[in-house]
Amino acid sequence: MGKKASKPLIIAIDGPAGSGKSTVSKIVAKKLALLYIDTGAMYRALTLKAMRQGIDLEDEDVLVSLARNTKIGLEEKDKLHVLLDGEDVSLAIRTPDVTANVKHIARVPGVRHEMVALQRSIANKDGGAILEGRDIGTVVFPNADYKFYLDASPQERAKRRCKELIESGQIVNESGVKKDILMRDDSDMNRSVGALKKCDDAIFIDTTGLSIDGVTEKILSYICA
Ligand code: DC
Repeated sequence: MGKKASKPLIIAIDGPAGSGKSTVSKIVAKKLALLYIDTGAMYRALTLKAMRQGIDLEDEDVLVSLARNTKIGLEEKDKLHVLLDGEDVSLAIRTPDVTANVKHIARVPGVRHEMVALQRSIANKDGGAILEGRDIGTVVFPNADYKFYLDASPQERAKRRCKELIESGQIVNESGVKKDILMRDDSDMNRSVGALKKCDDAIFIDTTGLSIDGVTEKILSYICA
């Protein structure tokens, strides 16, 4: 896949939870001086708002209206800050409750429509971006300059997730974490819109057994070729 002349430069990185895409996307964005867009954080922020308001997470009309009336922003300072109607919710969106409930929000077509429009406008406004998520190469930017699909074995993904949770002070049980990851795969891969799948023109990278540097170098080797 050669670099196209079109501007802005768009790099799409998709894959399941724990595939390593967030860590690597941040590093690649920094190296290429591109904006980093964590699309999962946007779905998480809306989930947090719905939970705080006690909204019935099965009520699609209310969720779509919530999405239309919510301001979600990403601000790059020392690290990426996620803003929900102006409030910094970078930590609040990472709780197990939000992680467990985000599937209710992510499966609503009207919510995804709003999120996709927002993601496109942020990326186009800023002279290009690296976006990571589930549907970037398939839906958000099907004509991205570069598309990558990262995956790793469920065992390895669970191990990485446990490490992150332990580092943030949480007590973990590896088999429970693996079960959660497999359940998330199931809801991410089987929703009617924006389902996680590798598109034919994405470069597949199995990150099992690869270091962060190893995956970063692989991605950069395609972009800087
Ligand atoms: O990347 P993450 O694990 O923080 O994402 C949280 C959830 O958001 C994920 O389980 C599915 C949803 N998501 C989505 O539906 N589409 C995206 N582009 C990104 C995330």
